[in-house]
Amino acid sequence: MCGIVGILSNKEVTPTILDVLKKLEYRGYDSAGIATIYNNNIKRQRAKGKIENLIKLINQNDLPGKIGIGHTRWATHGIPSEDNAHPHHVGSVVGVHNGIIENFREIKEELSQKGYKFYSETDTEVIIQLCSYFNKQGLNNKDAFLKTIKRLEGAFAICLMFKDDEKKLYVTKRSAPLVIGYGESDIYVGSDAVSLTNLINKVIFLDEDDVAIISQKETEIYNRIGQKIKRKKKSVEFNNEVINKGNFQHFMLKEIYEQPEVFTYATSSFINFKQQKIDMIHKFNEFDHINRIILVACGTAFYACSVAKYWFEKYVKVPVEIDVASEFRYRDNSFGKNEYAIFVSQSGETADTLAALRKVKGKVKKIISIVNVIESSIARESDFILPIKAGPEIGVASTKAFTAQLAVLACLTIYFSNRRGLLSKKENSELIDSLVSTPRIMSKILSKTESYKGFAKKLMKSKNALFLGRGILYPLALEAALKLKEISYIHAEGYPSGELKHGPIALVDENMPVICFAPYNDLFEKTISNVEEVLARNGNVLLITDEKGYCSLSSHEFPIIKLPKFSNFIEPIIYAIPSQLIAYYTALFKGTDIDQPRNLAKSVTVE
Ligand code: AGP
Repeated sequence: MCGIVGILSNKEVTPTILDVLKKLEYRGYDSAGIATIYNNNIKRQRAKGKIENLIKLINQNDLPGKIGIGHTRWATHGIPSEDNAHPHHVGSVVGVHNGIIENFREIKEELSQKGYKFYSETDTEVIIQLCSYFNKQGLNNKDAFLKTIKRLEGAFAICLMFKDDEKKLYVTKRSAPLVIGYGESDIYVGSDAVSLTNLINKVIFLDEDDVAIISQKETEIYNRIGQKIKRKKKSVEFNNEVINKGNFQHFMLKEIYEQPEVFTYATSSFINFKQQKIDMIHKFNEFDHINRIILVACGTAFYACSVAKYWFEKYVKVPVEIDVASEFRYRDNSFGKNEYAIFVSQSGETADTLAALRKVKGKVKKIISIVNVIESSIARESDFILPIKAGPEIGVASTKAFTAQLAVLACLTIYFSNRRGLLSKKENSELIDSLVSTPRIMSKILSKTESYKGFAKKLMKSKNALFLGRGILYPLALEAALKLKEISYIHAEGYPSGELKHGPIALVDENMPVICFAPYNDLFEKTISNVEEVLARNGNVLLITDEKGYCSLSSHEFPIIKLPKFSNFIEPIIYAIPSQLIAYYTALFKGTDIDQPRNLAKSVTVE
């Protein structure tokens, strides 16, 4: 993931920017750059590869100045190169960015029509070009910046400077991390507070869509509707726990809110924006002869496999077998030489999953692992590794790793489907566009959590709960039940809603909360009739649907949470967010240990 740093000081900033960029290396990168402003001129150096290459350039041509920005780039749009490296500079504007600008093509087209020339393949350059355009239209720096931000869609953190304004940094964030740090006399901006350790003693964690204009005199902050607001400076004790949790009460909540950014990076390893296609980091040459795909995992990772079964059957038209590793490893199952076996594991160390992998070694065509820890045992024993790049997941209850696993499995689905020639150009674009829009939709849901808190306040008093889903939402019902039980200790079950009348409906009475996932798709009507069955027995229904689902219901006496509009392909990814929020707030109100729930370990490395 990219790393951002900005410094406003009364001494030369380049050496400190380089130090901070080194601390940001852990986020992964393939190029780096720094820009400063000196005597109303923009000075800039950028280099492909490691920071050492940038240092060599700076030693030959120094970067004077008491205000500067730096960036480590992890390529999303455009190959790793000096031209694509940040900071990007157009006219009097220079800036860095972390995340993805979803509507960059539209803006780039608009500006190109006006004669603007682009020199890079990045989405970032569009931000700088647009801001420069508004500047040239006569808007002052602040208005040009605000107007630019309003046009952008996607998940991003941005830091800009204007050459005629050596005293100010301009920043904003939307579903990507950015903090403002205050030292003795210097002011810092960074992707995370950890990289500013020992430089700062106070910090402001910006909220979604905050815009900050930072000078030594004042930090002006404007909210998403342009009102000037105050954000409290917090003192920062540099123990890792506090610093790593940032503004959040629990790691789990922080990781829930990291999902838009994590999803962006998990998919951008595979999305080739230029050719609008999915590239894989492995050739999968034998795929054309594969006649079965086996998916094996435990817990939440198994529910990701269950979602993938629906995707592979629908889009790849290949038989799929799924199983939990603890069962798979002991079954008298058999395997063919023309099969792929895919093992999904956040830790890459789960004993049952590793044992299942070792069972099929040499018996299937290839072993593929989808992991978060690429040097883990499961990864090391696989033929192919597909990393989910979710960053460390501290909370025992898996959240960002789950949606990142789905990100990789969704890309694999599109890739395999295209390999079989089963997607038209239009279908391929629609599926890819739905993945690109996912971080924005996640952010929208995460920005309004009142309804989840309200429902959790009631749910916390229950002893049991039922989650219902049909089709590809059935694994989400299972995952939602797991999330709730593992952190709130409330017994919960996930069920395919069509199964209700085959037994579970006997459980339904006025003490049974029934949370129903019902996107407006071809199974919606059937799901609603299951809801009617529950209502007829006084069950406490919470329906989670979308705009179309909501409008199709004539009247309803039960609470409904309406999600934003999105395509069917990403339903299982989007519904993970409400599942996580319901579980989190229920556990929060119950006061259980959310990050380390009783009896649980983050990685089950024993049988
Ligand atoms: C999920 O919230 C649980 N922590 C647990 O089910 C977990 O998904 C399972 O143990 C698998 O772990 P892994 O992904 O590291 O293999």
